[in-house]
Amino acid sequence: MAERLIIFDTTLRDGEQSPGISLDVAEKLEIAEQLARLGVDYIEAGFPVASQGDFEAVEAISRSVQGPVIAGLSRTHLADVDRCWEALRPAARARIHVFISTSPSHMEHMLKMTPEQVKQETAAGVARARTYTDDVEFSPQDATRTPLDFMIEVLQVAVDSGATTLNIPDTVGYGIPWDFGTIIQYVRDNVPGDYVISTHCHNDLGLAVANSLAGVNAGARQVEVCVNGLGERAGNAALEEIVMAVRTRPDQFEGIEVGVNTEELARTSRLVSRLTGYPVQYNKAVVGRNAFAHESGIHQHGVLAERTTYEIIDASAVGQTGRQIVLGKHSGRHAFADTLAKMGLVVQGDALNAAFTRFKELADRKVQITDADLEAIVAEELGTNVEQGFTLEALEVQGGTVDTPRARVVLSRTGEKSEQTAEDDGMIDAACQAIKAATGVDASLLGFNVSSVTGGVDALGDVVVQLEHDGIRVSGRGVSTDVVEASARAFLNAVNRIIRVKARNEVRASEIGP
Ligand code: KIV
Ligand code: ZN
Repeated sequence: MAERLIIFDTTLRDGEQSPGISLDVAEKLEIAEQLARLGVDYIEAGFPVASQGDFEAVEAISRSVQGPVIAGLSRTHLADVDRCWEALRPAARARIHVFISTSPSHMEHMLKMTPEQVKQETAAGVARARTYTDDVEFSPQDATRTPLDFMIEVLQVAVDSGATTLNIPDTVGYGIPWDFGTIIQYVRDNVPGDYVISTHCHNDLGLAVANSLAGVNAGARQVEVCVNGLGERAGNAALEEIVMAVRTRPDQFEGIEVGVNTEELARTSRLVSRLTGYPVQYNKAVVGRNAFAHESGIHQHGVLAERTTYEIIDASAVGQTGRQIVLGKHSGRHAFADTLAKMGLVVQGDALNAAFTRFKELADRKVQITDADLEAIVAEELGTNVEQGFTLEALEVQGGTVDTPRARVVLSRTGEKSEQTAEDDGMIDAACQAIKAATGVDASLLGFNVSSVTGGVDALGDVVVQLEHDGIRVSGRGVSTDVVEASARAFLNAVNRIIRVKARNEVRASEIGP
């Protein structure tokens, strides 16, 4: 009988800790629905005690996402565990993931606790979690810099207190595959009990996937992963790479199965990229746009004669084939909504209306509309649909080499219109200045990147910007067949995120008090 390798997705928790990512509840729900479609076993939906927004997202996902078990992260404090459970309670199946640091550096500088206190905290936190659910995971944070004997003692305390999964986090990406594999083996040999052993590898040395697979080779039966390898600093192990390594090399992972619908990998990657504003590098394994592109004549010849000469994965097995949508400018709202539903995109209410309007505009300008185009406009409308956010009603620009470029924007917010004109070095700069004036958010531009969603001269331009304002860093994304419009949309999308983060921070400050 094959043994299941549990895919524990933490895109919405560790992935969301990537700098500049700030997803709202609707966006997190959209990603969680897609993760369920992808068939992951666990979704770590957030860290409920960290913020009201995190709490609400975990609760909303627990209430409505069917299929995967929903997990929430918690420190060992009893109040954290209680809050975590409160958010998870509506889930059909729920896991509490309790963690505490165990490395000398973390215990001394962050926790200011003795090793004995850390063991007591572990026992108390895990035992409290077990009063709520019989699915409890425990992580000794910074495990790879923790003396092995102490880690074993803490893990034994966790198992004796009721932990059913022991996760070994390489928090700072310090592991080397053979060494990390040895740690997993050592835990298995020295901690008796009935538990699943898990890996959680960060990518500071570019080894997160290799370390995770070494862990699997040594007996780990859960891997913690993020879509597109998102996560703190250099990120976590990439879900798509781990899944495809196991699927492609059954000879190396004998008797191990993963329950993921790999055809959904590319779409999941695109959705996460669009909603987080983190582009996927062109040559990214499995989901990069060049992952199945062949440049040299010899390779092209080989692949045309027989695909397997230069491809170890069939592009269609990971959903990397641009599907043509049979929607045109005469298609109605029903056909549009129906197509989105078939693509698995859950869009309703105002976001659906806005996406339909954008689709009609696009159909006027672009002959062939692909599912990637539709996903792009839907994702942007979800991101724009921020409570109290601004909507772009009109944009007019004048440029060229003679007069100073200028832009006029009309924005609306809760029914009120605001119009501004600005001049600057280029049409894009002018549009961004006008948006700053109309919104009152004087953000600085840290990064600007433009690419195309699909090929061809009428392709959608896809713009990602990074902005900073009052110490808040966010990214925003916009798409249009016109690059100036895409840029203005991306800028406004990011400004709306700043407004949202500020509102969230104000709520938090008023909850905490002076
Ligand atoms: O990297 C880490 O140590 C974590 C833990 C909370 C599991 O993300
Ligand atoms: Zn982590």
